[in-house]
Order: sequence, then structure tokens, then C-alpha cells
Amino acid sequence: MLPLTDWVLELLSMEQTPFRAYTVSALLLALLALLFRTLLQLGSSWHRYYVNCQRLRCFPEPPRRNWLLGHLGMGQNTEEGMQCVDELIGRYSHSCLWWFGPWFPILRLFHPEVVKPVLLESAAIAPKDYVFYGFLKPWLGDGLLLSNGPKWVRHRRMLTPAFHFDILKPYMKIFNQSTDIMHAKWRRLVASGSTSLDMFGQVSLMTLDSLQKCVFSYNSNCQETPSDYIAAILELSSLVVRRQHRLLLHWDFLYYLTPDGRRFQRACDTVHRFTANVVQQRHQALSHLGREAWLKSKQGKTVDFIDILLSAKDEDGQDLSDEDIAAEADTFMFEGHDTTASGLSWVLYNLACHPEYQERCREEIKDLMRDKESEEIEWEDLSQMPFSTMCIKESLRLHPPVTAVSRRCTEDIKMPDGRVLPKGNVCLISIYGTHHNPAVWPEPQVYNPHRFDPENSKNQPPLAFMPFSAGPRNCIGQNFAMAEMKVVLALTLLRFAVRLDESRPVRRKPELILRSENGLWLHLEPLGLSRESRPSAPRF
Ligand code: HEM
Repeated sequence: MLPLTDWVLELLSMEQTPFRAYTVSALLLALLALLFRTLLQLGSSWHRYYVNCQRLRCFPEPPRRNWLLGHLGMGQNTEEGMQCVDELIGRYSHSCLWWFGPWFPILRLFHPEVVKPVLLESAAIAPKDYVFYGFLKPWLGDGLLLSNGPKWVRHRRMLTPAFHFDILKPYMKIFNQSTDIMHAKWRRLVASGSTSLDMFGQVSLMTLDSLQKCVFSYNSNCQETPSDYIAAILELSSLVVRRQHRLLLHWDFLYYLTPDGRRFQRACDTVHRFTANVVQQRHQALSHLGREAWLKSKQGKTVDFIDILLSAKDEDGQDLSDEDIAAEADTFMFEGHDTTASGLSWVLYNLACHPEYQERCREEIKDLMRDKESEEIEWEDLSQMPFSTMCIKESLRLHPPVTAVSRRCTEDIKMPDGRVLPKGNVCLISIYGTHHNPAVWPEPQVYNPHRFDPENSKNQPPLAFMPFSAGPRNCIGQNFAMAEMKVVLALTLLRFAVRLDESRPVRRKPELILRSENGLWLHLEPLGLSRESRPSAPRF
């Protein structure tokens, strides 16, 4: 019997019986065991935390706000916040340690030498961390962007052929057509007096239009008339960003009680319904015709992503489920539209800032089109525009659409200088930081396409330029994105001169992608009548 038992029974004003005495003793023992276990766990957590702090001491740490907040709130997603990152890189050059509160450290990496071992590590040892992407889960499910482990390995292997050049080639027609539609609209808008347009808004609709055609073979005509599906995608992207800034709404239970949460739910339903319908109809056609006849019926036609996902098989001959196909299609729509629109908007902005480079690109494209019958950019042309490609790359360096990616170290990762990124920590790999690091890129704030002259780029260290990330989890859609950007840039410069709109200053804003605070407005000046402006029958 425990000495405390009498005291507890007395406190509860209970008469002492052997049964009660044994019950109270047993309860007290259980309580003691629980307390002991909790103390042990606390001790072990504290020990782990202490050891981790010791191991992290080899990384320099900028002064914290105070012991409680750490660096919380010191990194803003505004123009000023981006300038702070520039200062940080100027001071620390390779990496630094950042504390979210007293407990949660993040290693910020911004030099190719320290980025390389993490990005090139296997996806099992450095899996993706969900600091940025967690709120996308209800929308994108277990698509490539958000999945990890064996499911990601299997899907990545099955989806890689979808981005083979032979599959991408026929999409060139779609890129040309979607650009034609956008340009015809621009001419109408300019003719009606709107000479300055927000490139982000315009180009996002165009990239969504072309993706919907490439992924689903579906023409929603969204550049001309409102589309529920496209509106839902745009709404989902902006709701995710808004949620990131409201700490209380990070909690699902609260979020789905708010008007924003309900709008998110509704928009998710719209997107999922659309995708599920297409997948279901296509699956029925496949089952109805049989695989051979179905494949035959596709000959001579553009094979879209859904077709490829439907015919993909793993090493054991297993198909993807309808749910998997839908998640991958939704992921392509999300990951492919905003990023490419950001890349394109910034390259147009940079060429508007530098008319001399704009003119040189235009001359290059005019030369390319000289002996052509139609004003269409073809697959073979993509390798014939070296200077325009240099301008796109330099823009992706200066304004990378995805500014950072994160990884969690599930094992210690050794760096070339002997330091170790300790197991259990999260690394924030700053693409923006690496691209703006003066130790890697002299005069990093200057837009200079000649950095990508073959002669000059020979000296670039690997991973100095990584707008599409690198290693096993790099961007699967980079060839698609580069092809689309080249087509749109070439046709735009052929048909329009772009100039800065001085009345609307540009302030960078890193959200899910790098955008500009109040849009990116450019003046457009049409350059003579061309094929796209003539009325024609719809060709899709
Ligand atoms: C300029 C345009 C683009 C840029 C800058 C870009 C950038 C990136 C980056 C940096 C990542 C790595 C994300 C991370 O590690 O967390 C990524 C992943 C991904 N991107 Fe892109 N992307 C672009 C266009 C596209 C397009 C057009 C598609 C598809 C049609 C696409 C599909 C994906 C997918 C599915 C992933 C996840 C890959 C995986 O984890 O296995 N991206 N992209």
C-alpha cells in the first residue's frame, strides 16, 4: 500500500476499505508511471534538441528578434523582404540558420556548393517538406508534386514518358493557337484604348487555355468567355496564398468554418468534378473499344496527357487508378500554369526594361520566319533562337518563378567543406538566393543575357542556375515550359513592342510563385497586321 493512499481517501472523504485502498494505490501507481514516462520523453526531447542545437552551431546565425520569436516575422513576402534576402546573402554567402520561435530551426541554403548535396541526394534521404505546399493537398491529392515515398517513385517513372519530345512536339500547334487567341484579344483591347495590360492576368489565362487543351483536349474558350473550371483554379491558387498568411486558419477545423474555407471547398469540388468526368468518359471509351483499337483511334491525332496516363503501366503491368490519373492531371494544371505565366510575364518585363535586347530578339525571330509561309513557330525553330533563349534564361535567373523549395533531411547529409546538415532538420533551398548570390553571379541584380552565352556559361558551377530545381525531384515539365515560353515570346515580339508602364511601379511579391504586387503592367504597341488578327474559323 502506498503511504499516499490514506491521504487520498481522506481527501475524497471516503471510508477506507481494502478494495478502495488497492484501487487508489493502483491508480496512483499508473499516474506515477505516466508522469515518469512523460518526464523521460521530455528529457529525451530536450536532449535531442540540445544535441541538435550543438550540431547546428557551425552554421552562422543572423541576430534574432528575441529568444521567444527567433527570426519569426523577419522575412516578409514583399519587395523589402526580397531586399533583406539580398542583404543576408551578401553577408553569409553560403547558408545561415533561421529560427521560427525557440524550437523550430530552418537551414537556409543559397550557394550551389551547399545546395548540391541536398538537392542531388536521393528522394528517400531528402524528401520534400510541406512548409509551402500543405494547403494544396485537398486540391492536388497525391499527385507528383505532393506525394513522397514508393508512390512518388512509381508515378515519376510512369509519368516521365509523358514529357518526351515526341509527345511534346504536337503541342506546338496548341501553343501557337492559344497565343494567337491572346494576341487577337490584345489587338482588340489596344484598339479600344487599353494600351497598358496586366501581363500576369493575360498570360495566366493563356497558359491555362493551352494546358486544358494539352491535358484534357478540352477547349473552354476561357480567354474569351468566363469558364467555371478556370475560375475555380484561379480562385484556389489565391485562397491557398491567403490562408498561408493567417496563422489561425492553418487549422483545418477552423478554416472550413470560414467563408474562405467554404469557397475553397466549392472550388475544389468544381475542379474535381471536371477532371473526374473527363477521366471517366475516356476510361469508358478505352474499355468499350479495347486497348488496341483505342490506340489505333489515336493515330494521327494529338495524344493528350490523359491518354498517356491511361496507357501508362508500371513494371508489373499495373495501370494508374482513375483517382491517381485525376490527381496527376490536377497537378499539371496547377503546377504548369502559374509558373509558366510568371516566367513569361517577367521575361516580357525584362525585355521592356531593355529595348536593345528586345530588338535583338525580334530581329532573330524575323530572320527565322523570313522564308516561312505561315506565322507559326515549329518544334525545329526552338533550337534556332539562341539569343531569345538566353534572354529567357537570364529572366528565369533574375526572376525565378519558384523562389525556394524545401527538403527534410532524414539522414545526416555531408557538405563538401566537412560540415554536416544534421538529420531531422528542414532545409530551405533558396533558388532566388542562389541566383542572386554575388559570390556566384557578379552584379547579380543586372539583367544581362550574355551570362548565358555558351562561352560564358562554361564557367558556371553546376546548380548556379536552377529555376526548375535539380536532382530526383526536379521539374518534370521543364521542356514543356521552355517550349511554350519560346513560342509565346517569339510570336509576341513579332507582333508587339512592349514598353514599361511608368505609372505602375513593379514591386516583387514571392507567393506560391514570384509575381508583382499589383500586377505587371506593360504598354503594348501592335507591329503591323499579321495572321493571328484576321478572323478565322476555330482551328482546335
Ligand atoms: C517556368 C515554368 C516552371 C517552373 C519555373 C517550374 C519549377 C518547378 C520547380 C522548382 C519544381 C520543384 C518543386 C519542389 O521541389 O518542391 C517543380 C516541380 C514540378 N513541376 Fe514544374 N515548373 C514549371 C513548369 C511546369 C509545367 C509546365 C509542368 C507540367 C505541365 C510542371 C510540373 C511539375 C511537377 C509535376 C512537379 C513535381 C515533380 C516531382 O516532385 O516529381 N512544371 N517545378
